[in-house]
Amino acid sequence: MRRFIQGFGRVAALGAVTVLLWSCSDLKKDIPTAVSLQTQVHPAGWGDSTSANFHGKSLKVGQYDATSCQACHSKQYTGGTSDVSCFRCHTSYPHPASSKWSNPADSTYHGAYVKKMGWNLDECASCHGANFTGGTSGQSCYDCHAAYPHGTGWKNPTSSASHGKFVKASNWQLDGCATCHGSGFTGGTSGVSCYTCHVQYPHPTSFSTGHPSAMLNSDFPLAQCQACHGTTYAGGSVVNVSCMTSGCHVDRNGTPKSPEACNTCHGDFSAPASDLASAAPPRSLHGDTLTTVPAVGLHQKHLVGAVNAPNVECAACHVVPTAVGDAGHLGTDLRAEVVFSSALAAQVTANGTFVPNPTYNTTTNQCNNTYCHGNWKADSASSPYAGFYTKSSMDGLNAAPHWTGTSAEAACGTCHGLPPSGHPTGLGVSCYSCHYNSTTMDTRLHMNGKISLTGFGQPERSF
Ligand code: HEC
Ligand code: HEC
Ligand code: HEC
Ligand code: HEC
Ligand code: HEC
Ligand code: HEC
Ligand code: HEC
Ligand code: HEC
Ligand code: HEC
Ligand code: HEC
Ligand code: HEC
Repeated sequence: MRRFIQGFGRVAALGAVTVLLWSCSDLKKDIPTAVSLQTQVHPAGWGDSTSANFHGKSLKVGQYDATSCQACHSKQYTGGTSDVSCFRCHTSYPHPASSKWSNPADSTYHGAYVKKMGWNLDECASCHGANFTGGTSGQSCYDCHAAYPHGTGWKNPTSSASHGKFVKASNWQLDGCATCHGSGFTGGTSGVSCYTCHVQYPHPTSFSTGHPSAMLNSDFPLAQCQACHGTTYAGGSVVNVSCMTSGCHVDRNGTPKSPEACNTCHGDFSAPASDLASAAPPRSLHGDTLTTVPAVGLHQKHLVGAVNAPNVECAACHVVPTAVGDAGHLGTDLRAEVVFSSALAAQVTANGTFVPNPTYNTTTNQCNNTYCHGNWKADSASSPYAGFYTKSSMDGLNAAPHWTGTSAEAACGTCHGLPPSGHPTGLGVSCYSCHYNSTTMDTRLHMNGKISLTGFGQPERSF
């Protein structure tokens, strides 16, 4: 700056003449070339960054106060009487006043400028340094936004300078990112949404208590969670947040379990059969526990509370996965497939001629045509007691009970008559005495797919 002032003093008079001449464009063409003026207005080397007289160095000494340049280069530095705009060589300098250049609300704000330039920072680097920590200007970008400009390793998860490691080092604080990427991280002024690359992160604040519903709504994207939380969910190489230390993913004894454990999504309802009796009531994927909701329905009655029959296993009505990722398990409709895959519901009777074809109606929630609820025929022709029959077969009633109904839909007499049609009535003795050699219902022999006449000393036989 001192050097400039000396130079300026020497040429002040000529400078004034220049101003006069340049006010008339015709005359301007006739005046001597800029070279001669330069030697007089500015010292030699003024435009040469390697020279000791370089204007940048001169201004730096004076803390970059360029007010004195305005006399000839205009208040906006766009040329003025000198006809040399500072912006001819460096488009973004001199910067507007701090109140504008650093103010996101101002139209001349540096962020808006950089955005307009397609986020190209080469120009800034020439003064602020290739790594933006100051360069010749001494002004580091990181003084104001610690995370920007983003470095070369920023997008590479294996780099020590990845954005993930930066965020980790900041104890997962994202406020600094939110200023540019938006409070909801969907872009903000930067226009870059975090969710373009990882749909599930940043987690909403509700996530610690509310992620079950978020998971449900996005079809359980477990693979994505694993990308950060590790393949076993115990914490990844960068994200050291384990799912098993939260106290949420545990078995019934409180022992930590992976989120892939069956009870994460299904509640105790998927406890081992041996444990079901003491299990909590079934819980649906949506958290329901009422039996009027199909997802809960009469599970408990079938699984542990059967009155006149052995308990029914899951596999009687579903294809049961052994792991979460098994094909066909996590469907997108969030509704269980009811597949009568065990022999019992689809048991063939009448000596191999009567095929029941059981189905579940997802609209009315009825089980139709199941062997269990009376879709069977006992054939007299193949019976050792053919003479006992009052017609060619004894028939069940083929009931269609509602899964969301009450036990009345499976009361004694709904699945078959007492006794069934084709069976003599008024025999004067208890059913149980002929059928079970007993005075009470034998729940091991009733509804087990076999004709039981143990009261006659007969072994059980197939229909
Ligand atoms: C008295 C008028 C005047 C003042 C004050 C003035 N300049 Fe200039 N400047 C000129 C004129 C005229 C030219 C064009 C002729 C020339 O290149 O010397 C010029 C040219 C320049 C150039 C171009 C040099 C080149 O090599 O092409 C730079 C850089 C420059 N000025 C920077 C500055 C800076 C920085 C200041 C303030 C510290 C300043 N000027 C103050 C009149 C002035
Ligand atoms: C020709 C050199 C030069 C270029 C090019 C340059 N700067 Fe600067 N910048 C400086 C200097 C010198 C300072 C410190 C003095 C000042 O504010 O003028 C500074 C300061 C700043 C400040 C702080 C202003 C304040 O209010 O404190 C910001 C922000 C800034 N520059 C952003 C940028 C951006 C963004 C770019 C690229 C588009 C850029 N600069 C390009 C030299 C430059
Ligand atoms: C002929 C081209 C040219 C013109 C015109 C020009 N500059 Fe520069 N200026 C440069 C170059 C080249 C640099 C070195 C840094 C770079 O590469 O951007 C520089 C650097 C600077 C620096 C140093 C920044 C630092 O961080 O050290 C300042 C300050 C500066 N110019 C101010 C001005 C001002 C004010 C004007 C207008 C009055 C102006 N310049 C006009 C070419 C020019
Ligand atoms: C250009 C794609 C991309 C964008 C945009 C992006 N990330 Fe990432 N981020 C990744 C990749 C790749 C990983 C590595 C994990 C993975 O494969 O999912 C990752 C991982 C992370 C991690 C975990 C630590 C790590 O390194 O594995 C955090 C924290 C993170 N990003 C935060 C953010 C935030 C906050 C935003 C938005 C401001 C964001 N990311 C935007 C690609 C991106
Ligand atoms: C000062 C503004 C600003 C801040 C603060 C900021 N970003 Fe950015 N970010 C941007 C801009 C602008 C882009 C797009 C251009 C670029 O990559 O430089 C971007 C791009 C990214 C990308 C790469 C996206 C792609 O597709 O290339 C990731 C990842 C990212 N930011 C993560 C983060 C994270 C994480 C934080 C917080 C630690 C953060 N950003 C803070 C402005 C910012
Ligand atoms: C004096 C403080 C200051 C300095 C120094 C500074 N910035 Fe900024 N910058 C801000 C503020 C304030 C914002 C608005 C966003 C925020 O609050 O983080 C911003 C935002 C930006 C944005 C806009 C991002 C977006 O999404 O709109 C870019 C780009 C940017 N700065 C680039 C730079 C570069 C490049 C440098 C260094 C050359 C720099 N800044 C230095 C204060 C500064
Ligand atoms: C891009 C990396 C990334 C992905 C993908 C990711 N997480 Fe996270 N998760 C984190 C980080 C980092 C934290 C710790 C900081 C925080 O709470 O935001 C975390 C924390 C959590 C927390 C604890 C939240 C709290 O406030 O205590 C839960 C719960 C969670 N993640 C669940 C999930 C689930 C479920 C998925 C898959 C849908 C998932 N995460 C995918 C990075 C990720
Ligand atoms: C007697 C047949 C039957 C048995 C046995 C049975 N289920 Fe179901 N299950 C159903 C029916 C019917 C539905 C309701 C389907 C619908 O309407 O959406 C259902 C629904 C479900 C659902 C969906 C819950 C939800 O949240 O949407 C799951 C999970 C399920 N069963 C698991 C099991 C498991 C595990 C077992 C064994 C412990 C089992 N079921 C035993 C018939 C059965
Ligand atoms: C991440 C959550 C989740 C976990 C963990 C999980 N399930 Fe499921 N399960 C579901 C969803 C969702 C459905 C409904 C699928 C659909 O839309 O068809 C389902 C359905 C079922 C069904 C009904 C049949 C079907 O496929 O529709 C059974 C049986 C079942 N799960 C058993 C299990 C068992 C056993 C485990 C443990 C090995 C387990 N589930 C772990 C989410 C889960
Ligand atoms: C006197 C003995 C006797 C009594 C009492 C008796 N049954 Fe039977 N029941 C039979 C015989 C014999 C058959 C034919 C078995 C065969 O074909 O192998 C039969 C067949 C049946 C069948 C069809 C085949 C099977 O075992 O599922 C049903 C159902 C049945 N009885 C129910 C009843 C009911 C209900 C009562 C009481 C109201 C009853 N029975 C009382 C002897 C008896
Ligand atoms: C949910 C349907 C259902 C209900 C309710 C039901 N039964 Fe049965 N019952 C069957 C089926 C199926 C058979 C065919 C034989 C088998 O599978 O063991 C059967 C067979 C019998 C038999 C023949 C013996 C045998 O086991 O083969 C007797 C006796 C009998 N039931 C009595 C009763 C009595 C008494 C009640 C009421 C207390 C009753 N049942 C309620 C489904 C039912």
